[in-house]
Amino acid sequence: MKILLAGGAGYIGSHTALCLLEKGYDVVVMDNLLNASPEALRRVEKMTGKQVALEVGDCCDIARTREVFAAHKPDAVIHFAGLKAVGESVAKPLYYYQNNLIATMTLCQVMKEYDCNILVFSSSATVYGLATEMPLRETVPTGGTNPYAWTKIMSEQILQDVAKTDDSRSFVLLRYFNPIGAHESGHIGEDPTGIPNNLMPYICQVASGKLDYLRVFGDDYPTRDGTGERDYLHVMDLAEGHVAAIEYAKDHKGAEAFNLGTGTAYSVMDIVKNFEKANDLTIPYQVTPRRPGDIAVCYADPSKARELLGWEAKRDLYTMCRDAWNWQKQNPRGYEK
Ligand code: NAD
Ligand code: UD1
Repeated sequence: MKILLAGGAGYIGSHTALCLLEKGYDVVVMDNLLNASPEALRRVEKMTGKQVALEVGDCCDIARTREVFAAHKPDAVIHFAGLKAVGESVAKPLYYYQNNLIATMTLCQVMKEYDCNILVFSSSATVYGLATEMPLRETVPTGGTNPYAWTKIMSEQILQDVAKTDDSRSFVLLRYFNPIGAHESGHIGEDPTGIPNNLMPYICQVASGKLDYLRVFGDDYPTRDGTGERDYLHVMDLAEGHVAAIEYAKDHKGAEAFNLGTGTAYSVMDIVKNFEKANDLTIPYQVTPRRPGDIAVCYADPSKARELLGWEAKRDLYTMCRDAWNWQKQNPRGYEK
């Protein structure tokens, strides 16, 4: 089975490519390389001994997308191609709506033209907005708090609507919680541009001495230790979730949303302590005011994915912290793009 990974040169896409190749799927990547380096895929090829065709191109460009489909005739698409920085989406809403929505619609249309009916979409826990009913089940009403979140809610809506009118389609909407870590080899990992926004890449850069100390955004939340709690999952568990989603889509029509998380919430201080212990390092930190827009707690009820996809996260927090640092240590300048 041949799978087109749109946005597949990025963080989650490259780990998913590795996983798919190891399981015997053929992989083609279409990426505009806006936030990725082709080096990630070269390393995936080395690690697996298999080839990954990279088509440099923008999924909003329908002519280019048609060319890629005509050349490779994929049986399924996994759609990672999106911009993902919340703050930037607030500053440049049109840029986010244009890229993330047009990419989704273009892929959806071209898939139909080439009779490709299986799509796995990268959604996010951000679709739950300010919901406080924890753990979050897929039935919790969605609602956005920033343009990025709305692009995920709207993409999901578009896919739901298309699936309703076309019973040949199989769409799986994967709502990722907080992916962290890297492949255990340390050959591929997360390579953020500039100063990281997210907790784990920030901690890694403090550990490497690139940044002086971690700012802990608030210690007055109504949580066990006062710092924000999230559902962190290992990126390789997440990658395996995509394989499970492809298998599920083969014999299920319609559009279905799934949480991909562990079901456990860890605080910022839990992450710091586990990172220190796993890597025998000290992470200097200072408590600063809350980051605007952050919620206290967010974690998944992953039972639907367990029951219907047969998928469950297996790797623990210690492993996530060890693998994140192993990647950073081996690649202090990332892929040097
Ligand atoms: P990433 O930026 O590493 O990967 C996204 C890839 O898409 C990049 O390689 C980028 O160059 C490419 N891309 C963007 N727009 C494109 C376009 N129009 N045409 C072709 N390529 C395009 O991000 P990631 O962390 O791997 O995330 C993958 C997907 O998962 C994104 O859609 C993101 O919104 C979603 N997601 C990520 C997280 C997370 O914490 N990383 C959480 C929830 C959801
Ligand atoms: C962020 C995004 C969210 C996205 C998710 C997964 C924001 C506001 N939200 O969520 O849309 O779906 O990533 O990619 O960006 N923290 C610190 N110091 C830091 C960084 C973070 O204390 O330097 C804290 C945060 O307050 C939070 C936790 O660490 O409690 C996790 O933060 P982060 O990694 O940015 O993820 P989310 O905020 O959950």
